Amino acid sequence: MNCIWPEPVVRVQSLSESGIWKIPDRYVKPPSHRPSLNHNAVVSNIPVIDLAEAFSHDAAVRSETMLRLSSACKDWGFFQVVNHGVDVELMRNIREIWREFFDLPLDSKQQYANDPVSYEGYGSRLGVEKGATLDWSDYFFLHYLPAKLRNPGKWPQFPETCRDLVGEYGKEVSKLGGKLMKIFSSNLGLQEDGLQDAFGGEDFGGCLRVNFYPKCPQPDLTLGLSSHSDPGGMTILLPDENVAGLQVRKAGNWVTVKPVPSAFIINIGDQIQVLSNAIYKSVEHRVIVNSAKDRVSLAFFYNPRGDLLIGPSKELVKPDQPALYPSMTFNEYRLFIRTKGPCGKAQVESIKSSSISRRN
Ligand code: OGA
Ligand code: NI
Repeated sequence: MNCIWPEPVVRVQSLSESGIWKIPDRYVKPPSHRPSLNHNAVVSNIPVIDLAEAFSHDAAVRSETMLRLSSACKDWGFFQVVNHGVDVELMRNIREIWREFFDLPLDSKQQYANDPVSYEGYGSRLGVEKGATLDWSDYFFLHYLPAKLRNPGKWPQFPETCRDLVGEYGKEVSKLGGKLMKIFSSNLGLQEDGLQDAFGGEDFGGCLRVNFYPKCPQPDLTLGLSSHSDPGGMTILLPDENVAGLQVRKAGNWVTVKPVPSAFIINIGDQIQVLSNAIYKSVEHRVIVNSAKDRVSLAFFYNPRGDLLIGPSKELVKPDQPALYPSMTFNEYRLFIRTKGPCGKAQVESIKSSSISRRN
C-alpha cells in the first residue's frame, strides 16, 4: 500500500475555524446518506447496564443482568455500562487532555501527521480511495497493545501528562474489556476464557482512536463519521459528556445515543460477530455533527492478536448452525477499512456470502 495519502490532507478543524459557511463538496454526502436531522427522530436509547450487578452476591440480580447483557449483544450490538470499575476522574482527565491536544495550534499537531500504512498519529481520513467523500472529523490513532507495537514516542508530547494518562487509561479500559470478554464467553456458552483465548490470551491487541468532530456550518449535509461497523473485537467508547452525536442502526432507523454520565458505550465488533457465528451482532453506527459544539470521543478497540486466524468458535457451529464465516487473521481483515474507508457492514457481509456460496 502506498505510504502517502491520495490527496493533500486537509484538517477539518482548520476548515471549521476558517469561518466558512458552506462546506467543500468533498464533505457533502449523497442525499441517502445524509443525517435527516429533523425527522425520523427515534426516542429510544441503547440498553444501560450496571456492571456491578453482573457480580452481585444475589444470584437473581446476577442472572437478570447477564440476561440483559446477552440481549444487548444480540439485539443491539451496543449498550452503555455504569459501575464499570474505571475511575471517573481518569475518564474526565483523559478527555480533557485530548481536548487540549486538539486545541493546540496546527503546527504542533502536524508533527504527528499519520500515513495510511500504520495509521498511527494525527489523521483526517480513513481509507485511501482517491476522490472519496470525506467525513467531518480529525483523529489521533495509536497502538497500545501488544507492547511491542507501542511507541510512546509517537504519542503527543503535549499536553505534558498526555502520555502518562494514555498509559493509565489503556490499562484500565483493557481490564474492563477483559471482564466483558468473560461475560460474553459465559453468555455464549463457551468456557469463561473462550473468547480471550481466541484473541491470543494476554497477547490481544488494543488501539486508541481519539475522534475530534469540529463544529460544522452545514451539519445536515455531512457526517462526522460515515456508517460502519467496527472491524475489531469490541469497542469501549468514552463519549463526549455534553454533546450527543453517535447514532446506532436499529430496525432501519438511526437511534441517537444519549450518553449517561460516567458511562462507557460498549459495542460488539466484527471479530466477535464472527467468533460467535453471528449470535452477537456488530452493528452499524455513524456520527452526526452540529453547528454549535465540537465533540471529542475516545474509542478503545479491544482486538484479537493480528496474526491469529479468527473464525466461528467450534462450540457454536452445529449441523443446524453452520459456520457462517471463513477464518481470517485480523491483520488481513482490517486492511479493508483502511483501504475503502467506512462502508457500513459491507466487509463482514462480503466474507459471509463468499463462504456460503463456497458451500453451495
Ligand atoms: C469509532 C466510532 C463513535 C463516536 O471511532 O469507530 O464509531 O461517537 N466512534 O465517536
Ligand atoms: Ni465505530
